[in-house]
Amino acid sequence: MDKIKLKEVKKIIIVASGKGGVGKSTVAAGIALKLAGEGYRTGLMDGDIYGPSVPTMFGTIGTHPTYTKMGDQSQIIPFNKFGVQFMSIGCMVEPDKAIIWRGPLASNGLKQILTDTAWDNLDYLIVDTPPGTGDIHLTLLQQFYINGVIVVTTPQAVSMADVQKAVAFFKDPHFGIPVMGIVENMAWFSPSRHPEEQYHIFGKNGGQHLANQFDLQLIAQIPIDEHLCETCDTGQLNKLFNNPTINHAFNQIISSIIKPPLHYKGDAAFTKQTASYLNK
Ligand SMILES: Nc1ncnc2c1ncn2[C@@H]1O[C@H](COP(=O)(O)OP(=O)(O)OP(=O)(O)O)[C@@H](O)[C@H]1O
Ligand SMILES: [Mg+2]
Repeated sequence: MDKIKLKEVKKIIIVASGKGGVGKSTVAAGIALKLAGEGYRTGLMDGDIYGPSVPTMFGTIGTHPTYTKMGDQSQIIPFNKFGVQFMSIGCMVEPDKAIIWRGPLASNGLKQILTDTAWDNLDYLIVDTPPGTGDIHLTLLQQFYINGVIVVTTPQAVSMADVQKAVAFFKDPHFGIPVMGIVENMAWFSPSRHPEEQYHIFGKNGGQHLANQFDLQLIAQIPIDEHLCETCDTGQLNKLFNNPTINHAFNQIISSIIKPPLHYKGDAAFTKQTASYLNK
């Protein structure tokens, strides 16, 4: 089956994890904002059809997108805030209406939104995905040219076991998708009045262990921030980088996206073909 090449999108990066609630959406949105801040034309696609959170983080809940005609085809105009073009299934339905879609329907929905959105000349499209590795991930990997996956984990063992499965999935040589590295979120907590203190509430070095296990790079560690939840819940994502440690972590993440190593460390799935997508 031929893969779909989105004409207006140069590179697609997936943010994933085997585990729910580890911060995938926060990391995906933060990456998009940072890339946009660096002058890259950036899009964010909320691929979490069952629990979309992009509309909340961008403060667009209840806003419906508008449409435009491209030839005889109708296209969705993406939202634009903080310099990021974004789209979410959550923008298409009322927030209180649960989407009771089974796997194939959900992945077809995502495919359709991705292809029917009038992305405007993007350097990067970041795709936030649901927890685990299901139909949505398979659809993305099998039907689109994906340049890489960033895997998010929290340090505790219960998270690690699920994330290990996800890393193994993405490293499957059949997909040939480079795992760009691991981001450890909620790595520690530092009280704002005592920034020099670090409390490893969920354990220590879990992200590094995971990276070592799969011979991957630990790209960044993001601490727990007492204001982050409110920042995201109230659509003020631009305040995400007020915490200098979080700002630094996101700088590290985007530099590994902008200047990826020639070969991702130890990535067995890295093929010549994927190398050529990366250089596109
Ligand atoms: N580093 C952090 N410090 C404090 N709160 C955080 C941090 N990262 C994420 N959160 C909060 O934790 C909650 C879960 O984060 P998020 O929604 O990004 O996770 P997720 O992996 O996308 O979840 P899901 O699996 O449900 O899609 C959110 O309320 C978010 O604001
Ligand atoms: Mg999420």
